[in-house]
Amino acid sequence: MNKEELRNFWSARYREGSTGWDIGYPSPPLTEYLDQLTDKSLRVLIPGAGNAHEAAYAWEQGFKNVYVLDIAQEPLTAFQEKLPGFPKEQLLQDDFFGHEGTYDLILEQTFFCSFPPLPENRAAYARKMHQLLAPGGKLVGVWFDIPLTGDLEKRPFGGTREEYLSYLTPYFDPVVFTAAHNSIKPRLGSEFFGIFVRKTV
Ligand SMILES: C[S@@+](CC[C@H](N)C(=O)[O-])C[C@H]1O[C@@H](n2cnc3c(N)ncnc32)[C@H](O)[C@@H]1O
Repeated sequence: MNKEELRNFWSARYREGSTGWDIGYPSPPLTEYLDQLTDKSLRVLIPGAGNAHEAAYAWEQGFKNVYVLDIAQEPLTAFQEKLPGFPKEQLLQDDFFGHEGTYDLILEQTFFCSFPPLPENRAAYARKMHQLLAPGGKLVGVWFDIPLTGDLEKRPFGGTREEYLSYLTPYFDPVVFTAAHNSIKPRLGSEFFGIFVRKTV
């Protein structure tokens, strides 16, 4: 899919309300992580944020440099309506893979699982995450611990611990990468929680 087709594909999901991935509130592994941070000035990016419940949570907790990135405009518009005080310029309608910027923290919540699980896409994700983070920056979030079936249409696309690490460790030191203990009930036992620190490569 080119960028235009990709945008149309995801926009259509939001227009139709086919958003089964959306848990409707901030994901507990991410809120627990945010809760123990003291530096509220961190530049935080949430790519493939969708309705961005985690961004709203971070903002309400006092993180003022939160950036919401999605290729589809619909969830960004909805977010703005829900949180009119949130700075417009921090809502970014863009393709993650072409996005430019520098962040201290990037949060992952059902973004990795959304694009076709081809090795080149997965390698590009790890490379781009590294590129978008400042030295010492962190990639934190949840990744599905479910097997790939070979079906390139049926989301979410998962992976094994070894597979995730094979893509991420060239660019990141894994500080934590373990079964999430605080996933929402339907995902309990099928998510890894990870904290990856950017390597200086
Ligand atoms: C499975 S949804 C998850 C949304 C949100 N993280 C959540 O948990 O509700 C994947 C999101 O990634 C967005 N997306 C897919 N490919 C993208 C890309 N290349 N750049 C930016 N956003 C993208 C989609 O529009 C969609 O909102």
